[in-house]
Amino acid sequence: MKTLVVCASRSSHQNTRRIADALGGALDADVVTPDEVTPAMLAEADRIGVGSGIYWMSFDPRLMEWVRGLTDMSGRDAFIFSTSGLPETALRRYTNTFEQLLRQRGFRYLGAFGCRGLDTWGPFGLIGGVSRGRPDADDLAAAQSFAAGLRR
Ligand SMILES: Cc1cc2nc3c(=O)[nH]c(=O)nc-3n(C[C@H](O)[C@H](O)[C@H](O)COP(=O)(O)O)c2cc1C
Repeated sequence: MKTLVVCASRSSHQNTRRIADALGGALDADVVTPDEVTPAMLAEADRIGVGSGIYWMSFDPRLMEWVRGLTDMSGRDAFIFSTSGLPETALRRYTNTFEQLLRQRGFRYLGAFGCRGLDTWGPFGLIGGVSRGRPDADDLAAAQSFAAGLRR
């Protein structure tokens, strides 16, 4: 099974890119940004992982726009990954919103992986950031276990 990992990692810390690389390594997958995906890459992929940091309680808009632009993806699998400064709350279920978007494009949804990522945005920068040191080795190992679960 051929997997493609599409990642939008916006902050200078590149937190989500590190998770994407761990997933890509475990799944023998290319890791690219939405802009880098070619029609050939898309045609070959049976399974697509999409992920980004969380910005203003949402996935990266360019990544979501890219998914919205896909044609019918019936018969393909998809999973989500993310990093965020704080855990997701009931206030805004952004992972669920992204899941629905993937299902609307016809994907079979496999699940989501998320972990904390260093957040030095705005006022958090003044106190040295939140979720310092994340993602850490345990987060990368957890991402690899998630990928191993997908392989099974
Ligand atoms: C502009 C901006 C907005 C953010 N908004 C949120 C947010 O709403 N919730 C949250 O938990 N983290 C938020 N964060 C923190 C990021 O989700 C976190 O640092 C993430 O790991 C960044 O991933 P990246 O390095 O791949 O861009 C925000 C960060 C930035 C720069």
